[in-house]
Amino acid sequence: MYSDIIDAQIYNRLMGVHAYIPASDGAIAALIRAHCVSVASPRVVEVGCGPGRITGMLARTAPHAQVTGVDYDTRFVAYARKTLHGIEFVQSDVMSFVPEGPVDVVVSQGFHHHVPKAQVVAMLKHIRAWLTPGGIYVLGDEFLAHYGSEAERRMRCVAWYSHIIAHALRKNEPLLAREEAKTLLDDLQIAHKSEEDITLVLTRCEEIDQEWRVGSYTMAQELHAQLDARRERHASGDHTLDLSRGDYKIDHAHFIAEAEEAGFRVASVQTFGPQLLCGSMSVFVLRK
Ligand SMILES: C[S@@+](CC[C@H](N)C(=O)[O-])C[C@H]1O[C@@H](n2cnc3c(N)ncnc32)[C@H](O)[C@@H]1O
Repeated sequence: MYSDIIDAQIYNRLMGVHAYIPASDGAIAALIRAHCVSVASPRVVEVGCGPGRITGMLARTAPHAQVTGVDYDTRFVAYARKTLHGIEFVQSDVMSFVPEGPVDVVVSQGFHHHVPKAQVVAMLKHIRAWLTPGGIYVLGDEFLAHYGSEAERRMRCVAWYSHIIAHALRKNEPLLAREEAKTLLDDLQIAHKSEEDITLVLTRCEEIDQEWRVGSYTMAQELHAQLDARRERHASGDHTLDLSRGDYKIDHAHFIAEAEEAGFRVASVQTFGPQLLCGSMSVFVLRK
């Protein structure tokens, strides 16, 4: 569980200094407000709500809505219940959660890339089945720039995470930079991360963050090759290093294919960040 690595309060603060998360949080809130305004007693479910970082904002955005947050992380849910009153929090795997009645809006932020690829279409179908006929799924997440192969996806990963890490370092947020460096290693499926890997990412991110701006990815490829060659074969014994959160970030095209396979229609997308050359936080609206 994520809370094995990071405390809820620290997590909430770090997300607030991420390069694009606050802007996409705002877009999600605006979409929910616009959708709920014409519904008498809207029901809103946030899946993968974590410690309720945006759940309170969603509830304030649509004060007449009944809001439920769902997450399987025990400590995050306990923190959300303690800090946010008047909102129902359910500790459950989203796949086994069934809401009490039809839902007008499902929301997720930063959740989709944690769902294992083998389960992703089933998860989207499961969520789609909750929605009223006019209901929407507002899905915010980090997306990579377009890629054509797994090798290219990994190179895009290095460019995107380097951009986020370099921004965190410029803002003097070393903890966020370190957590993002670990997440990059998880996304590259480097089973046993080491301090040396993290240092390598932190050292090279700035030059990589300059390079993609001119459409070049040579240094990103170089860093990927260096990390690949260094793969540790043994766990470090430090759970904050060894635990992977199973991040696997994809591009818009792969996501749209998943959503459509699950029966959704993509109604709109807003992007925050350099989507074409590097990546973005994107907010999709999916309709039944
Ligand atoms: C990156 S966090 C995002 C939390 C919150 N939405 C936010 O924006 O800060 C992803 C969350 O999804 C939760 N999660 C991932 N897969 C899940 C699943 N199958 N069922 C329930 N929660 C899940 C994790 O526990 C974690 O809290």
